[in-house]
Amino acid sequence: MEPDAPAASAVRQGRPDPRPAGDGPVIELRGVTAAYGPGLEPALRGVDLVIPRRGHIAIVGPSGAGKTTLFSLILRFLEPQEGELLMYGRPYREQAHDDLRARLAYVEQDTPVVPGTIGDNLLHAHPGATPEEVRRVLAEVRLADKIDSLDEGLDTPLSGSSLSGGQRQRIALARALLRTPDVLLLDEATAQLDGLTEAAVQDCIRDRARSGAVVTIAHRLSTVIDADTIIVMEDGRIRAAGGHEDLLASDALYRELVKALRIAAPVTADQPL
Ligand SMILES: Nc1ncnc2c1ncn2[C@@H]1O[C@H](COP(=O)(O)OP(=O)(O)OP(=O)(O)O)[C@@H](O)[C@H]1O
Ligand SMILES: [Mg+2]
Repeated sequence: MEPDAPAASAVRQGRPDPRPAGDGPVIELRGVTAAYGPGLEPALRGVDLVIPRRGHIAIVGPSGAGKTTLFSLILRFLEPQEGELLMYGRPYREQAHDDLRARLAYVEQDTPVVPGTIGDNLLHAHPGATPEEVRRVLAEVRLADKIDSLDEGLDTPLSGSSLSGGQRQRIALARALLRTPDVLLLDEATAQLDGLTEAAVQDCIRDRARSGAVVTIAHRLSTVIDADTIIVMEDGRIRAAGGHEDLLASDALYRELVKALRIAAPVTADQPL
């Protein structure tokens, strides 16, 4: 190990080391089988998946297909029974949990917020963030004006504030973006969100996918269609993968899922499809 003082101090501030050199995948799953307990049916079976350093992968599949389980494995909330996961080519089991987590950010479906102010919520995973960094991520999720309009600004208690569900989800996204993760894992909210939230989330995904990896569990058609690669899961397996047009042509389950998302999509004047 070469001495590397700047990197060491970066870690103390909650930032991981710079990304390793090379262009190999950031995450890889090799033959991963996982269950939630001994004797339980596997929730994932023999999954192989490569997540490149850049780009947007969207995961779709029926309820119970194993989408959240895949995230749990990547986040190491769950250990595989068979197979292995690698980050930058190194097996998870050789790496400290904190080092793995420092490169990942997770936005959960239900957007949990911690007790406290809006500022507390933004800074809780990254207390060393500067005011400029906070402003930047709030602008990214298009909340800067909203927060400025509140009398107490970032010191507004979140519980008593007049933030909508969509705005809360954007707070959670801003919190994840503050850490500039190597991999952003986003479990999209299933509830209908306002158009501004949808557009803000979509812009953030696009922006982040240019410099890092974004994996979404997509519940909105716009997110699915925007992805570079779409993974179709069923019964704990990856059933198909590809682009939107390819999958429409080749995969019956994908066609069904898209049809359901289309029906659920809000009708707008500029519906692209
Ligand atoms: N905590 C748990 N304990 C036991 N079994 C679980 C647990 N979480 C999920 N499972 C099971 O693992 C399988 C995959 O679940 P998973 O949550 O990954 O599905 P999903 O694709 O995310 O579904 P949804 O779209 O409904 O969120 C299901 O059979 C589910 O019942
Ligand atoms: Mg799920």
